[in-house]
Amino acid sequence: MAVTLTYLGHSAFMLAAGGETILIDPFLTGNPRAVDRPGLRAADIPATRIVLTHGHEDHVGDAPAIAKRTGATVHGSFELCAFLAEQGVEQTEAGNPGGRVKTPSGFVAFTQAFHSSSYQGRYMGQPMGAVVNVGGKTVYHAGDTALFSDMKLIGELYRPDVAILPAGDRFTMGPEHAARAAEFVGAPAAIPCHFATWPLLTDDLSAFRPKGVEARVLEPGETLEL
Ligand code: NI
Ligand code: MN
Repeated sequence: MAVTLTYLGHSAFMLAAGGETILIDPFLTGNPRAVDRPGLRAADIPATRIVLTHGHEDHVGDAPAIAKRTGATVHGSFELCAFLAEQGVEQTEAGNPGGRVKTPSGFVAFTQAFHSSSYQGRYMGQPMGAVVNVGGKTVYHAGDTALFSDMKLIGELYRPDVAILPAGDRFTMGPEHAARAAEFVGAPAAIPCHFATWPLLTDDLSAFRPKGVEARVLEPGETLEL
């Protein structure tokens, strides 16, 4: 089955396979790097499933509105799912690090991440990375996180086809640490994200040169076939 991965700017990605369209951290409205193209806007992007790594607004983004428009199921922390249910999102799948939820097309699992997680001052549970398996392919999106050596274990457990790694520095790993992360995970390819969105995040990825891993720097709107 053809599985495609489209970068939507910042940390937002769209995975499409067969009838499934899975959005990860769909922050589109207010995202300076979002793509103004039919089918990729908050108002018209398709979704059957939405995966949220943590509660920060640059990750939750348009998830409540998209979920309400499309009826998509939202995967997130227990606290974040409870909050979204209060906002009128009808289908949620709560999880926490280490757990896996089977879906009709594969699974969504959460991993640890080293960061914080709140939404408008409210505690949103632990920040997480997400492993999404769909159509026989596996993507590890590290969420917002520092580098940690158990990324090796995540690579061993899930054998992802691609690792998506924050690289903008200050709030997450910078490019050097993201390169080490790509080596730890050991997926054949690694995609940096969470860079260049605002001046506080570096736009210089020259140090993102993982050894033995193909570095794929995607432009917003660019699609990769997995
Ligand atoms: Ni964050
Ligand atoms: Mn963030």
